[in-house]
Amino acid sequence: RRHLLEVADLDRADATLVLDTTAQIEQALAGREVKKLPTLRGRTVVNLFFEDSTRTRISFELAAKRLSADVINFSAKGSSVSKGESLKDTALTLEAMGADGIVVRHPASGAPHRLAQWVQGSVVNAGDGTHEHPTQALLDAYTIRQRLGRLDGVRVAIVGDVLHSRVARSNVGLLTTLGAEVTLVAPPTLLPVGVESWPVAVSYDLDAVLPKADVVMMLRVQAERMNASFFPSAREYSRRYGLDGRRMAALTDDAIVMHPGPMNRGMEIAAEVADSPRSTIVAQVGNGVSVRMAVLYLLLGGAPE
Ligand code: CP
Repeated sequence: RRHLLEVADLDRADATLVLDTTAQIEQALAGREVKKLPTLRGRTVVNLFFEDSTRTRISFELAAKRLSADVINFSAKGSSVSKGESLKDTALTLEAMGADGIVVRHPASGAPHRLAQWVQGSVVNAGDGTHEHPTQALLDAYTIRQRLGRLDGVRVAIVGDVLHSRVARSNVGLLTTLGAEVTLVAPPTLLPVGVESWPVAVSYDLDAVLPKADVVMMLRVQAERMNASFFPSAREYSRRYGLDGRRMAALTDDAIVMHPGPMNRGMEIAAEVADSPRSTIVAQVGNGVSVRMAVLYLLLGGAPE
Protein backbone atom coordinates (compact mmCIF):
# COMPACT_ATOMS: atom_id res chain seq x y z
CA ARG A 1 0.00 0.00 0.00
CA ARG A 2 1.08 3.58 -0.61
CA HIS A 3 -1.00 5.50 1.96
CA LEU A 4 -2.53 5.10 5.42
CA LEU A 5 -5.63 7.31 5.31
CA GLU A 6 -8.12 5.39 7.48
CA VAL A 7 -8.30 2.06 9.27
CA ALA A 8 -10.47 0.62 6.48
CA ASP A 9 -7.21 0.60 4.47
CA LEU A 10 -6.13 -2.27 6.76
CA ASP A 11 -7.60 -5.75 6.78
CA ARG A 12 -6.81 -8.08 9.66
CA ALA A 13 -3.59 -9.34 8.04
CA ASP A 14 -2.36 -5.80 7.30
CA ALA A 15 -3.10 -4.59 10.83
CA THR A 16 -1.41 -7.63 12.34
CA LEU A 17 1.62 -7.01 10.10
CA VAL A 18 1.91 -3.46 11.50
CA LEU A 19 1.68 -4.72 15.09
CA ASP A 20 4.19 -7.54 14.46
CA THR A 21 6.56 -5.17 12.67
CA THR A 22 6.32 -2.82 15.67
CA ALA A 23 7.33 -5.67 17.97
CA GLN A 24 10.26 -6.56 15.66
CA ILE A 25 11.45 -2.95 15.61
CA GLU A 26 11.32 -2.80 19.41
CA GLN A 27 13.34 -6.03 19.56
CA ALA A 28 15.86 -4.69 17.07
CA LEU A 29 16.36 -1.53 19.12
CA ALA A 30 16.36 -3.18 22.57
CA GLY A 31 19.68 -2.86 24.34
CA ARG A 32 21.14 -0.58 21.64
CA GLU A 33 22.91 2.51 22.85
CA VAL A 34 22.06 4.38 19.63
CA LYS A 35 18.35 3.82 19.00
CA LYS A 36 18.54 4.14 15.22
CA LEU A 37 18.02 1.90 12.20
CA PRO A 38 19.38 2.80 8.72
CA THR A 39 16.18 1.72 6.91
CA LEU A 40 15.00 5.08 5.52
CA ARG A 41 18.39 6.69 4.93
CA GLY A 42 18.08 9.10 2.00
CA ARG A 43 14.27 9.38 2.29
CA THR A 44 12.48 12.56 3.39
CA VAL A 45 9.41 12.69 5.61
CA VAL A 46 7.41 15.91 6.00
CA ASN A 47 5.23 16.44 9.05
CA LEU A 48 2.49 18.75 7.77
CA PHE A 49 0.48 19.96 10.75
CA PHE A 50 -2.46 22.36 10.34
CA GLU A 51 -3.76 21.60 13.85
CA ASP A 52 -1.98 21.53 17.20
CA SER A 53 -0.39 18.32 18.44
CA THR A 54 2.11 17.22 21.05
CA ARG A 55 2.21 13.40 20.95
CA THR A 56 1.53 12.69 17.29
CA ARG A 57 3.83 15.32 15.81
CA ILE A 58 6.77 14.59 18.07
CA SER A 59 6.43 10.81 17.81
CA PHE A 60 6.28 10.91 14.00
CA GLU A 61 9.39 13.10 14.04
CA LEU A 62 11.19 10.70 16.39
CA ALA A 63 9.99 7.68 14.40
CA ALA A 64 11.31 9.05 11.10
CA LYS A 65 14.62 10.09 12.68
CA ARG A 66 15.08 6.67 14.30
CA LEU A 67 14.70 5.19 10.81
CA SER A 68 17.42 7.63 9.61
CA ALA A 69 15.07 9.63 7.33
CA ASP A 70 15.47 13.37 6.85
CA VAL A 71 12.57 15.13 8.57
CA ILE A 72 10.94 18.47 7.82
CA ASN A 73 8.47 19.79 10.37
CA PHE A 74 5.91 22.09 8.81
CA SER A 75 3.47 23.94 10.99
CA ALA A 76 0.73 26.00 9.31
CA LYS A 77 1.36 28.72 11.89
CA GLY A 78 4.20 30.88 10.60
CA SER A 79 4.01 29.48 7.04
CA SER A 80 2.65 30.90 3.78
CA VAL A 81 -0.72 29.33 4.68
CA SER A 82 -1.32 32.60 6.57
CA LYS A 83 -0.99 34.37 3.17
CA GLY A 84 -3.75 32.19 1.73
CA GLU A 85 -1.70 29.36 0.19
CA SER A 86 -3.90 26.28 -0.29
CA LEU A 87 -3.34 22.75 1.03
CA LYS A 88 -2.68 21.57 -2.53
CA ASP A 89 -0.08 24.24 -3.29
CA THR A 90 1.56 23.71 0.10
CA ALA A 91 1.82 19.96 -0.52
CA LEU A 92 3.10 20.34 -4.09
CA THR A 93 5.71 22.81 -2.85
CA LEU A 94 6.94 20.36 -0.23
CA GLU A 95 6.94 17.50 -2.72
CA ALA A 96 8.97 19.59 -5.18
CA MET A 97 11.60 19.82 -2.43
CA GLY A 98 11.79 16.03 -2.33
CA ALA A 99 9.27 14.74 0.23
CA ASP A 100 8.81 10.95 -0.07
CA GLY A 101 6.19 10.79 2.68
CA ILE A 102 3.77 13.36 4.06
CA VAL A 103 2.30 12.97 7.53
CA VAL A 104 -0.71 15.28 7.72
CA ARG A 105 -2.96 16.56 10.49
CA HIS A 106 -5.77 18.83 9.40
CA PRO A 107 -9.00 20.17 10.96
CA ALA A 108 -11.01 19.20 7.85
CA SER A 109 -12.23 15.60 7.67
CA GLY A 110 -11.02 14.09 4.38
CA ALA A 111 -8.02 16.43 3.88
CA PRO A 112 -5.50 13.51 3.76
CA HIS A 113 -7.61 11.81 1.04
CA ARG A 114 -7.45 14.97 -1.09
CA LEU A 115 -3.72 15.23 -0.49
CA ALA A 116 -3.22 11.63 -1.61
CA GLN A 117 -4.80 12.53 -4.98
CA TRP A 118 -2.34 15.39 -5.55
CA VAL A 119 1.06 14.01 -4.53
CA GLN A 120 3.18 11.09 -5.74
CA GLY A 121 4.54 10.12 -2.31
CA SER A 122 2.91 8.32 0.60
CA VAL A 123 0.37 10.13 2.77
CA VAL A 124 -0.22 9.19 6.41
CA ASN A 125 -3.27 10.57 8.21
CA ALA A 126 -2.22 11.96 11.59
CA GLY A 127 -5.78 13.02 12.46
CA ASP A 128 -8.35 14.71 10.21
CA GLY A 129 -11.21 16.63 11.79
CA THR A 130 -13.66 14.28 13.49
CA HIS A 131 -12.98 11.55 10.90
CA GLU A 132 -10.00 9.30 11.73
CA HIS A 133 -6.68 8.95 13.54
CA PRO A 134 -5.45 5.56 12.30
CA THR A 135 -2.00 5.51 13.91
CA GLN A 136 -3.61 6.27 17.30
CA ALA A 137 -5.79 3.18 16.87
CA LEU A 138 -2.75 1.11 15.88
CA LEU A 139 -0.79 2.20 18.95
CA ASP A 140 -3.84 1.55 21.12
CA ALA A 141 -4.23 -1.96 19.66
CA TYR A 142 -0.51 -2.59 20.17
CA THR A 143 -0.76 -1.45 23.80
CA ILE A 144 -3.76 -3.71 24.48
CA ARG A 145 -1.99 -6.71 22.92
CA GLN A 146 1.15 -5.91 24.93
CA ARG A 147 -0.74 -5.68 28.24
CA LEU A 148 -3.38 -8.39 27.79
CA GLY A 149 -1.60 -10.69 25.33
CA ARG A 150 -4.45 -10.75 22.81
CA LEU A 151 -7.05 -8.70 20.95
CA ASP A 152 -9.47 -11.41 19.88
CA GLY A 153 -12.49 -11.38 22.20
CA VAL A 154 -11.17 -8.52 24.33
CA ARG A 155 -14.07 -6.39 25.64
CA VAL A 156 -13.32 -2.70 25.10
CA ALA A 157 -15.48 0.11 26.48
CA ILE A 158 -14.92 3.44 24.69
CA VAL A 159 -16.31 6.15 26.96
CA GLY A 160 -17.25 9.78 26.49
CA ASP A 161 -17.29 12.26 23.64
CA VAL A 162 -17.65 9.78 20.77
CA LEU A 163 -19.38 12.39 18.60
CA HIS A 164 -16.24 14.50 18.08
CA SER A 165 -13.69 11.71 18.40
CA ARG A 166 -11.59 10.58 15.44
CA VAL A 167 -9.82 8.30 17.96
CA ALA A 168 -13.11 6.51 18.68
CA ARG A 169 -13.93 6.07 14.97
CA SER A 170 -10.51 4.61 14.18
CA ASN A 171 -10.52 2.39 17.26
CA VAL A 172 -13.98 0.99 16.52
CA GLY A 173 -12.87 0.07 13.00
CA LEU A 174 -9.50 -1.38 13.88
CA LEU A 175 -10.35 -3.17 17.12
CA THR A 176 -13.38 -4.90 15.61
CA THR A 177 -11.26 -5.91 12.58
CA LEU A 178 -8.88 -7.50 15.08
CA GLY A 179 -11.67 -9.39 16.87
CA ALA A 180 -12.35 -7.19 19.90
CA GLU A 181 -15.89 -6.51 21.16
CA VAL A 182 -16.51 -2.77 21.49
CA THR A 183 -19.13 -1.01 23.61
CA LEU A 184 -19.58 2.75 23.30
CA VAL A 185 -20.64 4.50 26.51
CA ALA A 186 -21.77 8.10 26.16
CA PRO A 187 -24.65 10.48 26.78
CA PRO A 188 -27.07 10.40 23.82
CA THR A 189 -26.01 13.95 22.79
CA LEU A 190 -22.39 12.82 22.37
CA LEU A 191 -23.11 9.85 20.09
CA PRO A 192 -23.01 10.35 16.30
CA VAL A 193 -26.04 10.01 14.06
CA GLY A 194 -25.99 6.53 12.49
CA VAL A 195 -24.14 4.85 15.36
CA GLU A 196 -26.74 2.05 15.16
CA SER A 197 -24.99 0.83 12.00
CA TRP A 198 -21.54 0.66 13.68
CA PRO A 199 -20.31 -2.82 14.71
CA VAL A 200 -20.63 -1.98 18.42
CA ALA A 201 -22.95 -2.15 21.42
CA VAL A 202 -24.12 1.16 22.89
CA SER A 203 -24.79 1.94 26.55
CA TYR A 204 -25.62 5.09 28.49
CA ASP A 205 -24.69 3.47 31.83
CA LEU A 206 -20.97 3.45 32.63
CA ASP A 207 -21.45 1.65 35.97
CA ALA A 208 -23.16 -1.26 34.24
CA VAL A 209 -20.39 -1.64 31.64
CA LEU A 210 -17.26 -1.34 33.82
CA PRO A 211 -17.36 -4.77 35.56
CA LYS A 212 -17.52 -6.50 32.14
CA ALA A 213 -14.71 -4.54 30.45
CA ASP A 214 -11.13 -5.70 29.87
CA VAL A 215 -10.20 -2.26 28.55
CA VAL A 216 -11.72 1.11 29.41
CA MET A 217 -10.72 3.77 26.90
CA MET A 218 -11.62 7.24 28.13
CA LEU A 219 -12.04 9.97 25.51
CA ARG A 220 -11.22 13.63 25.90
CA VAL A 221 -14.23 15.91 26.13
CA GLN A 222 -13.54 18.12 23.10
CA ALA A 223 -14.90 21.40 24.45
CA GLU A 224 -13.40 23.28 21.47
CA ARG A 225 -15.66 21.36 19.06
CA MET A 226 -18.98 21.69 20.91
CA ASN A 227 -21.54 24.22 22.08
CA ALA A 228 -23.62 24.35 25.24
CA SER A 229 -26.50 22.33 23.81
CA PHE A 230 -24.20 19.31 23.49
CA PHE A 231 -22.57 19.78 26.84
CA PRO A 232 -24.71 21.45 29.48
CA SER A 233 -22.70 20.80 32.67
CA ALA A 234 -19.12 19.71 33.32
CA ARG A 235 -19.99 18.56 36.84
CA GLU A 236 -22.94 16.48 35.64
CA TYR A 237 -20.83 14.96 32.85
CA SER A 238 -18.10 14.02 35.31
CA ARG A 239 -20.62 12.54 37.75
CA ARG A 240 -22.20 10.29 35.10
CA TYR A 241 -19.34 9.55 32.69
CA GLY A 242 -16.10 10.39 34.52
CA LEU A 243 -13.79 7.58 35.66
CA ASP A 244 -12.80 8.15 39.29
CA GLY A 245 -11.27 5.89 41.94
CA ARG A 246 -14.65 4.58 43.10
CA ARG A 247 -15.62 3.51 39.61
CA MET A 248 -12.16 2.06 38.92
CA ALA A 249 -12.71 -0.30 41.88
CA ALA A 250 -15.50 -1.97 39.88
CA LEU A 251 -13.03 -3.20 37.24
CA THR A 252 -11.72 -6.77 37.14
CA ASP A 253 -8.16 -7.32 38.42
CA ASP A 254 -6.51 -7.32 34.97
CA ALA A 255 -8.54 -4.55 33.33
CA ILE A 256 -6.60 -1.58 31.97
CA VAL A 257 -7.48 2.09 31.57
CA MET A 258 -6.45 3.97 28.42
CA HIS A 259 -6.62 7.57 27.25
CA PRO A 260 -5.21 8.91 23.96
CA GLY A 261 -4.31 12.28 25.53
CA PRO A 262 -4.40 15.12 26.02
CA MET A 263 -6.47 14.53 29.17
CA ASN A 264 -8.87 16.77 31.03
CA ARG A 265 -7.87 15.56 34.51
CA GLY A 266 -10.83 15.80 36.85
CA MET A 267 -13.32 15.80 33.97
CA GLU A 268 -13.36 12.48 32.07
CA ILE A 269 -10.61 10.91 34.19
CA ALA A 270 -9.51 11.50 37.79
CA ALA A 271 -5.81 11.97 38.54
CA GLU A 272 -5.81 8.88 40.80
CA VAL A 273 -6.97 6.79 37.80
CA ALA A 274 -4.64 8.38 35.24
CA ASP A 275 -1.66 7.78 37.53
CA SER A 276 -2.67 4.29 38.71
CA PRO A 277 -0.93 0.99 37.75
CA ARG A 278 -3.94 0.16 35.56
CA SER A 279 -3.29 3.20 33.41
CA THR A 280 -1.47 2.61 30.11
CA ILE A 281 -1.40 6.30 29.17
CA VAL A 282 2.38 6.70 29.35
CA ALA A 283 2.95 3.33 27.65
CA GLN A 284 0.62 4.41 24.82
CA VAL A 285 2.83 7.45 24.15
CA GLY A 286 6.00 5.32 24.09
CA ASN A 287 4.38 2.73 21.83
CA GLY A 288 3.32 5.54 19.51
CA VAL A 289 6.93 6.02 18.42
CA SER A 290 7.47 2.32 17.61
CA VAL A 291 4.11 1.94 15.83
CA ARG A 292 4.81 5.01 13.69
CA MET A 293 8.26 3.62 12.87
CA ALA A 294 6.52 0.46 11.65
CA VAL A 295 4.04 2.44 9.55
CA LEU A 296 6.75 4.58 7.93
CA TYR A 297 8.94 1.52 7.35
CA LEU A 298 6.13 -0.46 5.71
CA LEU A 299 5.02 2.46 3.51
CA LEU A 300 8.40 3.91 2.55
CA GLY A 301 10.86 1.10 3.16
CA GLY A 302 9.91 -1.19 0.31
CA ALA A 303 8.53 -4.02 2.47
CA PRO A 304 6.48 -6.75 0.73
CA GLU A 305 2.72 -6.13 0.30
N1 CP B 1 -3.48 11.59 20.96
C1 CP B 1 -3.13 12.64 20.19
O1 CP B 1 -3.39 12.69 18.99
O2 CP B 1 -2.47 13.63 20.86
P1 CP B 1 -1.90 14.96 20.19
O3 CP B 1 -3.09 15.81 19.78
O4 CP B 1 -1.06 15.62 21.27
O5 CP B 1 -1.09 14.58 19.00
